[in-house]
Amino acid sequence: MTNADFEKLVDTSDEWIVSRTGIRERRIAGDGITGSDMAVEACKRALDMAGCPNEEVDLLVLATVTPDYRLPSNACVVQEKMGLPNAAAFDVVSACSGFINGLSIAKAYIETGQYRKILVVGTEYLSSIANYADRSTCVLFGDAAGAVLVEATTEDAGIRSTFLKSDGSMREWLWIKVGGTKYPYQKGTDPQGLDKIYMSGSDIFKVAVREMGRASQAVIENAGIAPEQIRWVVPHQANLRIIEALVKRLNVPMDRVYLNIEKYGNTSSASVPLALDEANRQGLIARGDHVLMVAFGGGLFWGSALVKW
Ligand code: UT7
Repeated sequence: MTNADFEKLVDTSDEWIVSRTGIRERRIAGDGITGSDMAVEACKRALDMAGCPNEEVDLLVLATVTPDYRLPSNACVVQEKMGLPNAAAFDVVSACSGFINGLSIAKAYIETGQYRKILVVGTEYLSSIANYADRSTCVLFGDAAGAVLVEATTEDAGIRSTFLKSDGSMREWLWIKVGGTKYPYQKGTDPQGLDKIYMSGSDIFKVAVREMGRASQAVIENAGIAPEQIRWVVPHQANLRIIEALVKRLNVPMDRVYLNIEKYGNTSSASVPLALDEANRQGLIARGDHVLMVAFGGGLFWGSALVKW
């Protein structure tokens, strides 16, 4: 969907969307395609690139807020669809920071020695929960999935540090009120859009810039490197202005930031792995590069990861 498509749906303009967000297009899943289908495709491509047979995957961690079913987890659906006979599989629900949470879980399991090869995938079918009557949110979101394989190594490389933090007191700034057990659907009544995403964008904006900055500094310090050593920042792509404010705080130039928000919009937990994969397949990330990933979203929940490629 392009900005021109949204001009026909709600009272908005290409000029407003581009200048306030940096978004020009987003991808919408085709008929019958769900989050698990997109995750399968992403996981297959990740395993293919890593040269890893399905049988060797020990664990699948799937980040999503848009699972196919309320029960079971999307991870178990994906496990069955792609055939991961020796894996355990579970979902994490950390909204836009779900992939970073998944990386942190993978790092911890690998360090304990419990698992050696872990698929981490972020997949979101956000068009199913976007409120296409609310111009302040619907123009932002797109559908996508992205995956990585994390594996044990003795090389001088890998996930150096991760940082996670949440604050549930601000949960109503980004939420879907109706449809859970507290506010279930009422038979015969119209939920009036309360079963779709609501976001208080300008409130989130300020906290996002501050906390993504702090989270980035935390992993840079923990990894024992200087900010100048960051070769790539691969941030959650929610708003170009948030990203610009973040890297200004970090004193990292914009030409070290991988951006694709223009093409996909905000894809929640898929956003960081989608950007990472694009940068990698374009050959932009070299062995030994320090890559900073950082995300912020509903919960509120935020996190970062520092990887030596
Ligand atoms: O990924 C999870 C975390 N989420 C985020 O990080 C998102 C953070 N927030 C944002 O990215 C921005 O706050 C938004 C892009 C959501 C909104 O941008 P903003 O610059 O904060 O705009 P605003 O909400 O302060 O609204 C400014 C004006 C309002 O009109 P008035 O009251 O000044 O007359 C809105 O009604 O822009 C209006 N507006 C729009 N106008 C045209 C809001 N949405 C639209 C729209 N088209 N689509």
